[in-house]
Order: sequence, then structure tokens, then C-alpha cells
Amino acid sequence: MRFLDQIALAPYTTFGIGGPARYFAEAASESDIREGVEFARSRGLPLFVLGGGSNLLVSDEGFPGLVLRIALKGVERQGDVFRVAAGEDWDEFVTTVVADRYAGVECLAGIPGTVGGTPVQNVGAYGQEVAETIVAVRAIDLRTLEPRELAPRECGFEYRRSIFNSTERGRYIVTCVDYALRKNGAPRLSYADLKKHFSGRAESALTEVATAVRNIRKAKGMLIVEGDPDCRSAGSFFKNPVVTAAHYQRIADGAGVVPSYPAGEGRQKIPAAWLVEQAGFHKGYFLGRAGISSRHALALINRGEATAADVIALRDRIAEAVEQKFGIRLEPEPVFLGPQSGI
Ligand code: EPU
Repeated sequence: MRFLDQIALAPYTTFGIGGPARYFAEAASESDIREGVEFARSRGLPLFVLGGGSNLLVSDEGFPGLVLRIALKGVERQGDVFRVAAGEDWDEFVTTVVADRYAGVECLAGIPGTVGGTPVQNVGAYGQEVAETIVAVRAIDLRTLEPRELAPRECGFEYRRSIFNSTERGRYIVTCVDYALRKNGAPRLSYADLKKHFSGRAESALTEVATAVRNIRKAKGMLIVEGDPDCRSAGSFFKNPVVTAAHYQRIADGAGVVPSYPAGEGRQKIPAAWLVEQAGFHKGYFLGRAGISSRHALALINRGEATAADVIALRDRIAEAVEQKFGIRLEPEPVFLGPQSGI
């Protein structure tokens, strides 16, 4: 494996923002991963594991350690279980299985990024999340440098969360993921936008659902389309916050109808996009070279030549306004990589 020096990270992210990595290498195997870890450890450097760069904001200073890009490839099928290497493109995998009439990930079409990132943040959209189909995650345990297979219950999947981005953050490097899909299974049509699209139709093919999802994402600027400035982003910039029923009621008393979804006993999830707009930030709003997508209030975008500092200034302005108006601290969804981060 080659270790490159001072490699610009911006082209490796969907935001197109960020300074250089001190060192950069592409791992095509588990032994490359071990070599990378040992390289960083022996020099006392921090390590950052890069997947598709679709949920990432890199600082303008870049990263003073080793960025290890996961480039492990391969898809194997055993019965209805697909073992997919972490460096495979997620949307290509979805396209292939949907065409072969396997159900389980059709609503996750059009999501940018690699397979290895999907268990980390329990990728979800349009009424589906990967936790429903993942049956095993194989990862290198950095405590032992040995591979380990984790069962779903060990992964601690929740909304946009797993042990990989919370309690055990920095411990594992995902190398492949097993998804159990359903041959000729029916597509999931639980999300309002999708139901509306297929209204009145009892049956719809998996491919039609995946296409509808892609079209909805495209309309919201959430599909990577060359030349579309609205998709120079990291998708949703904030998580949808969960509040108590009492807090929800206080907001509703002041604002009238508040969109929300039940989120367990006595709790409601409020769309962050709604909070952002209500706090005074309309679609298309901008601050310097950073802005809000013209098609979705939750996507912060690089309007061209934006710096990470521009995006952070906008993030802070939005988060402060939402907190002041609603008493909710919005939590960013993307990962931040800067001089102090890494493992
Ligand atoms: N809304 C607004 N303004 C907007 C957009 C939306 O007020 O500009 C409100 C509306 O009330 C709308 C509601 O927000 O009904 C929900 O909007 P949408 O269906 O677009 O979904 P979301 O909650 O904003 C979440 C995920 C997306 C995922 C979609 C579809 C999070 C943080 N985001 O967005 O995931 O694609 O649902 O399931 O959970 C991502 O994680 O990067 C991502 C794009």
C-alpha cells in the first residue's frame, strides 16, 4: 500500500470542502488496514477512516494524521444473504439487488456513500433503515488488530446511531456487511411521499419504488447529480430532534400545527428542516459562500469555493436561532474532521 503525502481531501467529499491529509492511503484488504493502523501508530499520528465522504465536513486546516480510505471490494451471495465489502458503492449495490428482485433496501436507493458507512450511522430513508436487513458486520478490532464479526444486537442500532459512532467510536473499522434480503419480496411503502406517489395502486415493483425514491431525492437535491449545486452537501446537516410530549406541546402552543412523528413513549420527533425554516432560515438562504439548499432546508450547501469555516458559521447561526426560539439544541449529523479529530 502506498502512503501519499499532503493529499487534498475536498475531492473525496460530497461537500467538496477541506484541507489536506498529512498522509493518505487506500486500503484494498484487511492486511492493508492493519498496515495503515501500524503506520499511524508507529509515528504517533491520528488515524481517520474515510468511506464515501458523503457525511463528512473536513476542516480548512485538513488533518495532521493518516486518512485511510477504505477501498475493499466484492459482493458475494449465499442464499438470500449478500456479503458486501465496505468499499463498495452503496447505490450500485442497491441498484443490482433491486434489479434482481431482492427486497429490503429499495427505499435506500440514491444514497451516496459506501457500504461500510451504512451500519455506522444506521443509514435510513423513506421508511427503511439498514438495521432491518443487516445480519452481521465484520470489522477489524483496533484493540487486537484482528477481524471480528458482530451480530446485529451487538451493533446497538438506533436512529442514525450504532456502537460504531457512539460507545465504541474509534474501536472498529468495518470491512464488510451482510444484508439478508427477500427474493421477490414486496417493496416497503410506508413513507407518506411514497404512498402518495403510488396512491391507489395495490402493487408496485421494487424497481419502481427505487426509481420513485431516486426521483423524490432528486427533487429535494438529495441525489448526487453532476452540476447540481444543491447536492454539494452532506445530506441532512442536522438530526431530527426527539423531544418530550410536554416540550412538543409548548412548541405547538406557540406555533400551531407542528409536524412530528411518534418516537417512543411520551416522545415526539420533529423534523429539523421545519425548525430551521421556522427559525427564519428559508430554502436558498445564504451566508457568504455557504448556504441552504433551494430544495430542502436541512441541507447546508457549498455554493462554490465555500470553506469549512463558512459552513460552520452558518451552522452556528442556525443552531443558535433554533435554540433560542424552541429550546432545542440541534445536533449535527455529519462527521467533522479537523486537527483535533481522528482516532
Ligand atoms: N420540511 C420542512 N422544510 C423543508 C423540508 C422538510 O419544513 O425544506 C419538513 C416537512 O414538514 C416535511 C418534514 O420536514 O414533512 C420531513 O421532511 P423529509 O421527508 O424531507 O425528511 P427529513 O426528516 O428532512 C429524513 C432524513 C433523510 C431521509 C428522509 C427521508 C434525517 C436527519 N434525515 O429527512 O436522510 O432521506 O428523512 O426518509 O433523519 C440524511 O440522513 O442525510 C438524509 C438525507
